[in-house]
Amino acid sequence: MNIAIGCDHGGFQLKTIVIKELQKWGHKVEDCGAHSLVPDDDYPDYTLPVAKSIQEGRCERGILICGSGIGASVAANKLHGIRAAICHDTFSARQGVEDDNMNILCLGGRVVGASLALEVIKTFLEARFSGLERHQRRLDKVEEFDANN
Ligand code: RB5
Repeated sequence: MNIAIGCDHGGFQLKTIVIKELQKWGHKVEDCGAHSLVPDDDYPDYTLPVAKSIQEGRCERGILICGSGIGASVAANKLHGIRAAICHDTFSARQGVEDDNMNILCLGGRVVGASLALEVIKTFLEARFSGLERHQRRLDKVEEFDANN
């Protein structure tokens, strides 16, 4: 799978570990930065290129890592066609895709360790949207928010 990944200073260390592992698993990774640890950089600057990569069809899924995961998810959900959420457990990572068609997983680099983060990421990447009528109906209503508000 093609995966876009981005982080600010709060997620830099974890992103380095995650990229290596994604490549070992056979995924193609688009690294949207930060490309070095910049202690006062801003998560929206890395959120936008990850979202664009999905919007433009280069990547199917994205991963964003900031300190808590919150800033990145708030920013990502402002962008058309993005369905982002913080998941620090595998149940949410699976259900977020199967039911809600989540396309960006947000993680808090100051919240989870690398082992848990990798398990959550694996679950997120293996999950597929169920396409069930009730879930599609709910997503259509969410799309209306995007279009009308
Ligand atoms: C940066 O210190 C921190 O606020 C940021 O990484 C993120 O956690 C925001 O939600």
